[in-house]
Amino acid sequence: MLRRLLTQTSSPRRLLSSKAPFFSKPSLSPFSSLPSSPDPPSSGSSTTVKHVEESGTAGTTISVDRSALFIPPDHSHEPTPDSELVKHLKSVIKFRGGPISVAEYMEEVLTNPRAGYYMNRDVFGAHGDFITSPEVSQMFGEMIGVWTVCLWEQMGKPERVNLIELGPGRGTLMVDLLRGTSKFRNFTESLHIHLVECSPALQKLQHQNLRCADEGSSEKKAISSIAGTPVHWHATLEDVPSGVPTIIIAHEFYDALPVHQFQKSPRGWCEKMVDVGEDSQFRFVLSPQPTPAALYLVKRCTWATPEEREKLEHVEISPKSMDLTQEIAKRIGSDGGGALIIDYGMDGIISDSLQAIREHKFVNILDDPGSADLSAYVDFPSIKHSAEEASENVTVHGPMTQSQFLGSLGINFRVDALLQNCDDEQAESLRSGYWRLVGDGEAPFWEGPDEQTPIGMGTRYLAMAIVNRNQGTPAPFQ
Ligand SMILES: C[S@@+](CC[C@H](N)C(=O)[O-])C[C@H]1O[C@@H](n2cnc3c(N)ncnc32)[C@H](O)[C@@H]1O
Repeated sequence: MLRRLLTQTSSPRRLLSSKAPFFSKPSLSPFSSLPSSPDPPSSGSSTTVKHVEESGTAGTTISVDRSALFIPPDHSHEPTPDSELVKHLKSVIKFRGGPISVAEYMEEVLTNPRAGYYMNRDVFGAHGDFITSPEVSQMFGEMIGVWTVCLWEQMGKPERVNLIELGPGRGTLMVDLLRGTSKFRNFTESLHIHLVECSPALQKLQHQNLRCADEGSSEKKAISSIAGTPVHWHATLEDVPSGVPTIIIAHEFYDALPVHQFQKSPRGWCEKMVDVGEDSQFRFVLSPQPTPAALYLVKRCTWATPEEREKLEHVEISPKSMDLTQEIAKRIGSDGGGALIIDYGMDGIISDSLQAIREHKFVNILDDPGSADLSAYVDFPSIKHSAEEASENVTVHGPMTQSQFLGSLGINFRVDALLQNCDDEQAESLRSGYWRLVGDGEAPFWEGPDEQTPIGMGTRYLAMAIVNRNQGTPAPFQ
């Protein structure tokens, strides 16, 4: 099928360079404190996106992708009463008798069961904090559907497949994938969908958007009326049953996994930690002695090139991402199939990328935790090495830019086909959505208000595949 869909690819372009470190002159007494304001991002603006439904009308969504955002306004230090999450974090630091790692802070802020950022609400779109590719255009999920059907064919068209999505957000990608592949009956009939989602609020939204009817009394298993497919929910990948050929999709999931941050100092590498200062505000400090995560730092540095190692002053590592990749590789290695990872990141070691976003703007990472999204660039070489280390039965492909990936899968044909049958408003929405998915920088054709110019995500986002060796090279990485 891919042969029919192959089309011109955009030429590879350079990724955004990693942001400059946001602290520079640490004092090094035990747990010495560090300034915490992020450097301004290099470019960006807010954008209006029209999201076209294939059979419906166009809706308007004010949205900003997370890699091109405003310079943050100065952080205000006006005292506000502590939220439940702030009280919790302060008590952890107090009873631990010292600061916590940035990774522990990030994990609590995002996924604390009671007050974590993702746990109780819909955070996407105009009224949320950021927008993701599936929300930008239906074409994104449709193209992932093309990739999935191609892989299923390479797998020998098995009669039963576990299609796992990690962190499905609103479930939009899966809705568009199922709708787009519904003509391939043998494929959709083979599917058992498993959604790995920690947020009860988002699980509910996924259930609703996938038009699910519960099976029996269990809310954790349902049938989606989009393609008559069984859908199951789990909190972790380990909970998904194995032993069945598997396809895994992780779109903007890795960037939400906790990162540890390290900084080179005259004492060697120190881990950056989060503490509470005398003014009762959170602040960054440096660890006085090696921390357990230093083992992962050593491992990551062995995968860096000598040129990379020479320049390093700051390093960000994600042991959770390494462990998750190992779990994925082992599963794919023994059960067959493959995984697709798409995220914003680098094809190299990451120095200092953690960012907080609230209402489409960068804010201070330590400001009102739980009210802003935290995310970090994905370290693609670390995923590649972790997968190869975990299983001899897998091969790793990419990363390639999102622009190359979607272009090779036929997004140009798809946008042309949709443009044949739409009104002016939908056409504008399709063109700006297309640009946001595959473009680089500001859309040259834009005639609307400057502040709504679509900004392309095509080179900032990268795609990587991990597949069972028996499957050969997956589309479109040949
Ligand atoms: C940035 S959103 C991406 C959503 C979706 N993939 C998209 O592209 O629109 C991250 C998603 O991962 C989920 N998530 C974050 N951390 C998680 C964890 N540790 N375990 C399970 N789900 C998690 C969030 O609740 C959310 O659904």
